[in-house]
Amino acid sequence: EESKNIVLAEDSSLPKANKAKISQLAEHRSKRVRVFGWVHRLRQQKDITFVTLRDGTGYLQVVLSGRVNQTFHALTLTLESTVELVGMLQVVPEGKTAPGGHELIVDYWQLVGGAPGAEDAFTNRLNEKTNPSIQADLRHLVLRGETASAVLRLRAALLAAFRQTFVKHSTLEVTPPCLVQTMVEGGATLFKLDYYGQPAFLTQSSQLYLETCLPSLGDVYCVQESFRAENSHTRRHLSEYTHLEVELGFINFDDLMSNIEAVICESVDILLADPTSAALIKQLNPKFQPPARPFLRLSYVDAIAWLNEHGIKRPEEDKEGNPIKDENGKDIMVEHAVGDDIAEAAERQMTDIIGKPVFLYGFPAELKAFYMQRMPRKEVSDTLFTESCDLLMPNVGEIVGGSMRISDYDEMIAAYEREGMDPTAYYWYTDQRKYGTCEHGGYGLGVERLLAWLADRYTVRECSLYPRWPERATP
Ligand code: 4AD
Repeated sequence: EESKNIVLAEDSSLPKANKAKISQLAEHRSKRVRVFGWVHRLRQQKDITFVTLRDGTGYLQVVLSGRVNQTFHALTLTLESTVELVGMLQVVPEGKTAPGGHELIVDYWQLVGGAPGAEDAFTNRLNEKTNPSIQADLRHLVLRGETASAVLRLRAALLAAFRQTFVKHSTLEVTPPCLVQTMVEGGATLFKLDYYGQPAFLTQSSQLYLETCLPSLGDVYCVQESFRAENSHTRRHLSEYTHLEVELGFINFDDLMSNIEAVICESVDILLADPTSAALIKQLNPKFQPPARPFLRLSYVDAIAWLNEHGIKRPEEDKEGNPIKDENGKDIMVEHAVGDDIAEAAERQMTDIIGKPVFLYGFPAELKAFYMQRMPRKEVSDTLFTESCDLLMPNVGEIVGGSMRISDYDEMIAAYEREGMDPTAYYWYTDQRKYGTCEHGGYGLGVERLLAWLADRYTVRECSLYPRWPERATP
């Protein structure tokens, strides 16, 4: 009864409290500070309340005792409420641990925005038992959790590390458009839209635009959203994903694979050298080891043989590409042959057995996009192979797809024709071959997939801020 009447006032005779973010508190030790944040954890005892405060930059242990623990708001405090806290920042006593090694002994505080208790309490809406579909609806609340926020923080560090690496490689960042009128990776996965009465698409890849930058800007990269209308409900497919794409001029196929390897390894080294991002990796993926260089390179033809040697089969398909079932309704499994696509399941088994990054290279032209440079035709084979490569990582599978591009004008025209594409819309792309062509190539890296590998996440859905997949564009 009495406690409800306690009204706190800030004691103006105490030293001034500077406002600080939790991550900056080390420099405020043994001083009064003012911090703002959310009640992340709460432990209320008779005479003392322990709060773990979260402000997005870190976590802080907070102690409320005496008068500050006896107010109405102290007695009714709930998880996820926002508070303003003022007090002395003390190093934790010997033998005790706390985030940052210090704790805040509060002498004044106030509630900024309360969160509901009882039925509508945060932990009633979201807890370990919440089913995945509800969790997806509550992504905005999931993000407040320690794991989800650590993944996003690592994601930011990863993008920063990539940018640092590209500066070192004299590769310039550009920002190509998302609204386009050309396809890159086949018409089947295009999101179509009405563009002031004209047909247009959401981009599948910024590659063609990057190629046009080579003559003016040299080697370029972008971090841009790509969109794929793929009806794939898998662990590694999103309808919108962050695509890191790179294009390099005057290189050969070997240079291309070396660049992919260098960019990934150097960026990982930057992350491991930084204490904050190294701690995030340790939290999320304690067993992580940076990959050894050089990465294994396995030709497509050798990979087909490898799959057969290891008894990894593929479902037999009819002409439409649907699996053929036996009388029990099970897929009929057959050996792989040169010319077959290596499907996700087989690819995953292969990477998991190999257990380290592996480049698969030299895919048959029929399986690949129109723009890919051909390898010289082998006398022994009818199959035409391309200077293309996928980088596969354990647990995830393909994280990078790249290739050398057709550099010859006539060959490019022939490629449009072969694919039944109208070259008119591609005039700007064709012009690259007309006004001073060069041997060039590039690649696209799925940022969520790389992060799934780095942070050991089960699915790319955990690696996107607000992931989109078929039937999911909310929140
Ligand atoms: O292999 P893809 O389709 O290659 C291209 O788009 C090239 N034009 C890139 C280039 O050469 N500039 O896609 C490249 C990468 C894949 O290896 C994968 O990591 C990622 O993009 N990716 C996806 N990630 C999440 N969800 C999807 N639906 C993805 N589709 C591709």
